[in-house]
Amino acid sequence: MSKKIFSGVQPTGNLHLGNYIGAIKNFVNLQNDSNNFCIYCVVDLHAITVKQTPKELKKNIRETTAAFIASGLDFKKSIIFNQSMVSAHSEGSWILSCVARMGWLNRMTQFKEKAGKDKEKASVGLYIYPILMAADILLYDATHVPVGEDQKQHLELARDIANKFNLDFDSSNFLIAPEPLIQKNFARIMSLKDGQKKMSKSDPSDLSRINLNDTKDQIFNKIKKAKTDTMPIPENENQLSNRPEAQNLLGIYSCLNDQPLFETINEFSGKNFSEFKDKLANLVVDKISPISSEINKLLKDENFIDKVLNDGAERAGEIAEKKIKDIKKIIGF
Ligand code: AMP
Ligand code: TRP
Repeated sequence: MSKKIFSGVQPTGNLHLGNYIGAIKNFVNLQNDSNNFCIYCVVDLHAITVKQTPKELKKNIRETTAAFIASGLDFKKSIIFNQSMVSAHSEGSWILSCVARMGWLNRMTQFKEKAGKDKEKASVGLYIYPILMAADILLYDATHVPVGEDQKQHLELARDIANKFNLDFDSSNFLIAPEPLIQKNFARIMSLKDGQKKMSKSDPSDLSRINLNDTKDQIFNKIKKAKTDTMPIPENENQLSNRPEAQNLLGIYSCLNDQPLFETINEFSGKNFSEFKDKLANLVVDKISPISSEINKLLKDENFIDKVLNDGAERAGEIAEKKIKDIKKIIGF
């Protein structure tokens, strides 16, 4: 079946191995299936829901675009663009915010986590962030949205908004309720310092994550220092259930080597972690270093990156403008 794919990544600093395994690697696989039509967006409007420095933001937009291309996204096969260049996203977001209900947004766990204790001081944008995300997806009639597990609740909200719009305006199937595409195994890559915490851009410790632009030495050092336990690598998956750090490292190896966890366990069973970590570090370097050097190469040619984004915005704009026009007509504008 042919799928229409939409996904987005925020341009907020270094992309890491969690973004790569949980999202971008998947984007590339989907793009390379010729049945699919894929749109990948650098969601800069989402980024400003928390404070950004203008100069840094501009740099991060280019960096995220470079990371997309360096990881294997092809701007000839897929549409690659940044959200703020297509005004239909902001417009759609306003209209859909009149469809979404306060009660739905109040249940969003990511807002609670990001706003922390001082909710009164969070931006209104952070609160309505999932509505903008729904607009992103619904403007393109996306059928499938590849994301990490943390975005599942936002996708359910997008489905609720689509269904309510169709019902309110008696326009069944006009907005398409999208399906999430979430990796079954290792949908969440965890911090190298704490197997209970997600690997994240915002973790104050750089040792907690592998950035896509880390050098070989940094990767070796981070994996060497990654937290493990004192037991050797077990014989089967069940014996990993209370060993989150071991599970995470074995999972990263499996994902990057495109093999099921049990194969990795068979390969290393009974061995100690120092031997495994050495193999893991080499594998991560093999997979990540080419991406890292390609990112750096691409960043030297800002004009090229800007041209990719301009062309992408033009193609995305055509689709989104048409949908917004239809939405306005249905509403009675
Ligand atoms: P963000 O960096 O929050 O904009 O996330 C971009 C994409 O990467 C989203 O699809 C996230 O679900 C995914 N992602 C972020 N962190 C992780 C992680 N630690 N493990 C797996 N996926 C992740
Ligand atoms: N909220 C997503 C994240 O933080 C990014 C995002 C914005 C997105 N719009 C989207 C993902 C549309 C998928 C589809 O990861």
